[in-house]
Order: sequence, then structure tokens, then C-alpha cells
Amino acid sequence: MKELLEKIRAAALAEISDAAADVEQTRVRFLGKKGELTTVLRGMGALSPEDRPAMGQLANEVRTAIENAIAERMARQKERALAHRLEKEKLDVTMPGTPVRMGHQHPLTRVRREMEDVFIGMGFSIAEGPEVEYDYYNFQALNIPENHPARDTQDTFYISDKILLRSQTSPVQVRVMEKQKPPIRIISPGRVYRSDALDATHSPLFQQMEGLVVDKGITMSDLKGTLETFAKQMFGEETKIRFRPHHFPFTEPSAEVDVSCFACGGKGCRVCKGEGWIEILGAGMVHPFVLSNCGIDPEVYSGFAFGMGIERVAMKHYGIDDIRLFYENDERFLGQF
Ligand code: DAH
Repeated sequence: MKELLEKIRAAALAEISDAAADVEQTRVRFLGKKGELTTVLRGMGALSPEDRPAMGQLANEVRTAIENAIAERMARQKERALAHRLEKEKLDVTMPGTPVRMGHQHPLTRVRREMEDVFIGMGFSIAEGPEVEYDYYNFQALNIPENHPARDTQDTFYISDKILLRSQTSPVQVRVMEKQKPPIRIISPGRVYRSDALDATHSPLFQQMEGLVVDKGITMSDLKGTLETFAKQMFGEETKIRFRPHHFPFTEPSAEVDVSCFACGGKGCRVCKGEGWIEILGAGMVHPFVLSNCGIDPEVYSGFAFGMGIERVAMKHYGIDDIRLFYENDERFLGQF
């Protein structure tokens, strides 16, 4: 029996140290219920009482030796698996990362916000109005009579007789004055729509920024001072402004306003087409009819208003010569800002 136990020990240990062997199988083969060692231990009862203690001790030794060898081998296996995983999952945190492409504001958004900042700095707040508008606000209340060319369906997208896509941000003036009593000092940037054919300078969708100030004693000089301050902050300290008489139904008097060319300073260049001046907006003193249409007494209050095209400002600002570029979403263009 002694030899048998030693043989089992040698066989088991040899198998366990064989890297190719499956130790679980080895365990079952030697220590399992029907395992070789288990069978020997079961036969222990047949030994004489004198032999039993020594054999029992040896059998236990063999069992412990096999168990330890298995445990060791399992531990080593685990360690190796862990080392392998660590190696495989190694992460060099000092490696430069995969570059992420960052987006940025659209040039029109950037220019619009710059414009907003200038007016907010002068105490204006921002008002909003709907893009789907009533004929009343877009035209009627602004003193634009039935037969005015601006109402021509050639220019305006009508949804029904009374509802249209606003062709200007001026209706926001009316909406604000209906709700708010003077003093009023707002700007209102937003999209406007006209059924113009798309070309380098026309887009059926573009953006305007309206301005409106109503209070006691507001005069044309307030309008001039406000626009001059805006022009200097937006285009540079040396910028000058020029008023040219014009006609708008909702202002009296009305003017078109130019700024000295910020590319050439007024000498004449490609940006200003040799003029030295660039037209940027329409403005004037709010027509008394418009004030009274909104329930504001023109005998007590006066105001000024202006409206400018945001694309126009952006085009001049960045030297862009085609309005379509703003709306084509071509990254080769947008990536330049
Ligand atoms: N709404 C006018 C347009 O789209 C621009 C304009 C002119 C707005 C004079 C005004 C203004 O507020 O006073 O052509």
C-alpha cells in the first residue's frame, strides 16, 4: 500500500506540473469521489490495526501534497491570467488623445451676438416676435397701406389672406408697444422671409435686427448718437456714419444710414465698391400713426426705430461676397471662422 500511495503522489504531482494538463481533471482523477487516492483511503479498513496509523498518516500527507500542488498551480494560473490581462489592457495615459473636432459658432451667430452685445451695453433688451405673422403686424399697423409694393405677393410669402411669413422684423415694434408702455428700448434680431430669387446678394431667408426706442423727448439726435456708438463699437473707433433721406411708411422722417468703409477707411475699395461708404440700415423717427396704432400718445411720446440686415453686416465684416455661403453649410467655408 505504501508503494501505491507513493505512485499516486508521483503521478499526481507530475501531472500537475505538466503545463498542458487540466488540473481540474487531475483533481477528479485522484481526489474525486471515485478518485485513485479516495479508493485507497476507502480500503484502509482492511489493514491491520498496527499498519493503519502509519498508512493513514502517509495517505493524508499524499492528499495534502496533491491539494497544495493543485492550489499552487491554480494560483499561478490566476496570476498569469491577470498579468496577461494587465499587459493586454495597458493604457498609456501620457499618450496624446485622439483629436476631437470642435465645432464653433456660425459666423452669422457670432456677428449677431456681437451686435447684441453692443446694444445691451447701451441699455437695450432683446424682444422676440413670431416668424409666422399677421398681415396686421407686418404691414397694416406699420402704416403700410393696402396698395404698397412691399405687400406685393412677389415679395411676401403669404400663408393665407391674413397670415404671412414676416418680411421684416419691424412687426416686433408693434407687438412690443402694444404690451409695454414707454420707456421702451429694445432690439429684436430674427429671421425674415421674402420671395426673392436666390443670388449672391438675395436670399429668401435672411436675418434682420430691429431697434426701437420710445420715451418722452426722444429726438433724431438720439438716433444718430445711438447708431454712431454702435458703428464705432462694431467696426472701429474711426468709423463715421452718414444719413441719407429716404422713405419708410413707418418712420417720419426716414433715412438710410451708411458707415464709412471699414476696409479702406473711406478712400474707396473693393469692399465698398469704390464708394467709401457702406449702407447698413434703414431708420427714422417712429411715425405718429404707428404710435397711436399701438395706443401710445404721439403728443406725449416720440421714438426712433432702425432695422438692419445681419448678413450684410457679416458680409462686410468678413469680406464675404456671396450671401448663399451662409446657408449652404459647407464646412470648407464655415471652417474658416
Ligand atoms: N423694415 C425695413 C426693411 O426691411 C428696415 C427699417 C427701416 C426698419 C426703417 C426700421 C426703420 O425700423 O425705422 O427694409
